[in-house]
Amino acid sequence: MYDILKHTHSGLRWVALLLMLTVIVTAWQTWKSNAPYKQRLTLFTLIVSHLQLLLGLIMYFMSPHVQFGEGFMKDSVLRFYGVEHITIMVLAITLITMGYSKAKRQADDRLRGQVVVRLFGIALVLILLGIPWPFRIPVAGWF
Ligand code: HEM
Repeated sequence: MYDILKHTHSGLRWVALLLMLTVIVTAWQTWKSNAPYKQRLTLFTLIVSHLQLLLGLIMYFMSPHVQFGEGFMKDSVLRFYGVEHITIMVLAITLITMGYSKAKRQADDRLRGQVVVRLFGIALVLILLGIPWPFRIPVAGWF
């Protein structure tokens, strides 16, 4: 059961990254060249990020790499999953949520594009920093 959740969460990273990139590029075109704002694509990306949040929260209570025993902060893997990963990702997903809803409240598409480029852009940088890439975290995988 845990392995299914972990593989889903791990594989969904690629979907999330691809969607984030597509949303930012299309929002940039909306901002700079008046292309229509892609609200549905932005909403779909928001949903995928919330799915990651949900899977992550469930796994947080099951993972062998989340343990708050004495000295866990000195262990780089336990510190990463127990503190760093969750903090960075929750912040990124908050920015995505703010970006989506703030964009909806703007007066026109150009401003919507601008808001999305800024907030999703920061969120993407955070996600890239928060992912346990195998070259960084020894117990992580690519899929
Ligand atoms: C966009 C958001 C997120 C992305 C892209 C992401 C990505 C990943 C990846 C790639 C892994 C490694 C899986 C592996 O070892 O193969 C992972 C593991 C994990 N993530 Fe996330 N994550 C996100 C959000 C979250 C959040 C918000 C939480 C907590 C609330 C969370 C909790 C965990 C936990 C507990 C593990 C498993 C550690 C283990 O047992 O090895 N993740 N995540």
